[in-house]
Order: sequence, then structure tokens, then C-alpha cells
Amino acid sequence: MSNITGTRGKLILIEGLDRTGKTTQCNLISSRLNYKYYKFPNRETPIGQIINSYLTKQVSDIPLSDQSVHLLFSSNRWEFQNEIKTALLNGQNIIVDRYIYSGIAYSVAKNVAGMDYNWCSACDRGLIKPDLTVFLINDGNFDNHGFGDELYEKHEFQVKVSQVFMDIFYKQENKDYISNHFKQLDVSGMNIEEVYSNIESIVDSFTIKDLNLLLF
Ligand code: TMP
Repeated sequence: MSNITGTRGKLILIEGLDRTGKTTQCNLISSRLNYKYYKFPNRETPIGQIINSYLTKQVSDIPLSDQSVHLLFSSNRWEFQNEIKTALLNGQNIIVDRYIYSGIAYSVAKNVAGMDYNWCSACDRGLIKPDLTVFLINDGNFDNHGFGDELYEKHEFQVKVSQVFMDIFYKQENKDYISNHFKQLDVSGMNIEEVYSNIESIVDSFTIKDLNLLLF
């Protein structure tokens, strides 16, 4: 579906924990609704390749600190800003699979001294903010079943990440965003098509109110 105003595209973000089906849904939205699809981290760029080595626990000559890992993820988002901006201004709708909120949630969940919300969000300031964020949750009974071998795919860590996501979304400074640009969807017990039809109706019924791009 093309953008409703005819002047710029919508930027829709799908966020959520590992294994909540974000990538499957983004692929469906991209192919069925003609949205351009961006996934973060993008593991193809040189920065993305370092992130991939980190996530897949490949031995590196240079051990990465948690701070530098965080900045690499942020940098990976900045790599695509001009491209995303141009596409939106050309009227192209965009779907993004993980973005700033994953960046903050996974890093804050590590509980490293000094890496609080303010520190972790600072490097993303100025990035284009999604017009709508759809946050996928399950019933909280996720376990190690279905997780892969990547660094963060551990039950205990995912519980922490889930708490930090909630803390972020319900922060006072994010109140306006939550009221107007945010939908939480509990996908527990739903199959792929059921999740898709929920997301499609959320996306379809959402119209952009501000013709300027939103910025973090
Ligand atoms: P993926 O499984 O969606 O490819 O994401 C890879 C992992 O990277 C996932 O566990 C979430 C994590 N992540 C961060 O830690 N920081 C970020 O900024 C992003 C986008 C993802």
C-alpha cells in the first residue's frame, strides 16, 4: 500500500525479543505491501561483519569492550541513514527489523557500569525515528527451546532484555511516543498468518500526522 499522504513514506519498526518472528513478519510486509526492508544489524557491511563475529562468538584478535560493541551497532544504523532518508522522502514505505530500542535494551541489560539509558541512547540521537513501532511480545514463557547459539540467545538474558524494553517504552520522556506511535502485540499462540494479519491491520490503519521526519 502506498503512503497515504503521497508526500513521504512511513517508517515502521518491528521490535521484540529474539525468536518472536520479527524477520518472518518483516519479509511478509515487504513482499505483500511493497515496503523496503532494512534489518539491523546489517551483517554485510565491514562494521556488520565485526558485529557478526562478535555475535557468533568467533575468536577475534581484538577483544571488543561492551562499549565498543554498542557503538558498532549504532554505527551500523548510521551507515544506512542517508539511504533511508532518501527513500522515505521519495515516498517509499520502509519496514525495519530491530533498531534503536534493541540497541539500548540489549546493552543496558548487560548491566555494565556507566552504560545506562542515557549513555546508550546518546549515539543514536539524530537518527530517523520510526513513525510507528510495533513491539512483539510472547507470554513470557520463552525458554531456551528455539534459541540458536548466538551470544544473547539465553533465557536469563532475554528476561532482562524484556524488562529493559518495557522500562524504555514506559519512560516519562517516551510517553508521547507511546501514546501516538507505538503498538504492543502479544503473539502468544498465534501462527504466522495470524500475526501477519494483526500487523497488517495495525500498519494499514496508521497514518502519519507529521510530514516532517521524526528524529531521536
Ligand atoms: P538478529 O538476531 O535480529 O540478527 O539480532 C542479532 C542480535 O543483536 C540480537 O540478539 C539482538 C542484538 N542487537 C543488539 O545487541 N544491539 C542492536 O543495536 C541490535 C540492532 C541488535
